[in-house]
Amino acid sequence: MAKIFVTRKIPGSALDKLKGSGNEVVVSEFDRPLTSEELLESARGFDALLCLLTDRIDGEVLDALGPQLKIVSNYAVGFDNIKVEEATERGVLVTNTPSEVINESVSEFAWTLMLALAKRVVEADESTRRGAYKGWEPSTFLGVNMVGKTLGILGMGRIGGLTARRALGWNMKVLYYKRSRDEAAEKELEVEYADLDRLYQESDFISVHVPLTDETRHMINKIAFDKMKKGVIVVNTARGPIIDEGDLVRAIREGKVGGAGLDVFDNEPNINPELINMENVILTPHIASATNEAREEYGNLAVNAILDALTGKKPQNLVNEEVWERRKK
Ligand code: GLV
Repeated sequence: MAKIFVTRKIPGSALDKLKGSGNEVVVSEFDRPLTSEELLESARGFDALLCLLTDRIDGEVLDALGPQLKIVSNYAVGFDNIKVEEATERGVLVTNTPSEVINESVSEFAWTLMLALAKRVVEADESTRRGAYKGWEPSTFLGVNMVGKTLGILGMGRIGGLTARRALGWNMKVLYYKRSRDEAAEKELEVEYADLDRLYQESDFISVHVPLTDETRHMINKIAFDKMKKGVIVVNTARGPIIDEGDLVRAIREGKVGGAGLDVFDNEPNINPELINMENVILTPHIASATNEAREEYGNLAVNAILDALTGKKPQNLVNEEVWERRKK
């Protein structure tokens, strides 16, 4: 019987499956992120850890949890909260939860933000509730049409690809940037590769879909904003630190950015206070993947990875394959 620690209660049926597996399962008693001290205290000596994107897992944490730890199963697609190299050095498997259902949810949310900003839905709703609607007017809440505009997709991975696919229905031109060109996507999705400068210069909408790495941290900064079209709408459903929030605030204030949709923030859960007072900004609390379907999938994938690893089966969505290779020898 193995010991599995879950850092926070998760929705859906996955925990029941885990509890029914015959292993000892302990779920954190707090419905909030654990402090690192709490994590160390509660999870020390466990064989598997199911953690969330709000848990920071590095070598120090792994050492404290003990050498018996086999797997860290991250209940998230992004795994920038885990120092994967440090897990690899210690022979700990790391998995994440990419899946079509989750990717669809995030891509749908990127579109939700773009559409809501283009049509000024949130501002208009707020004004109407406040009682400001006194009858039809020709010049209030003027937005923009989507059709015929250029959408720039930064990062043409699975979620970027789904976001591009949806643009076909809006008759938009799609430019994408990726480290290496993706000719299959170009054919299938009618998208065009652009280097970063061109993507910034020509896009009316920019949707961010790169992972957070040392290379992408603050890649959208003043230098990038200076290159963009005046009035561009930028949405971020990936990771907050990809955009330099201070530079974004300045670009909005100067009118360079016409609208920003942010589901993620540079220093979550803190938000630059200036953003909170800006009307052409939509702020949501990291919910792009918060659909019932997606969360069920997250749970199942995270739990299955643990059960596989504990029974000697290679888990799906292993992000450090080397550890598995090493174990086989
Ligand atoms: C959510 O942000 C995820 O990475 O799954």
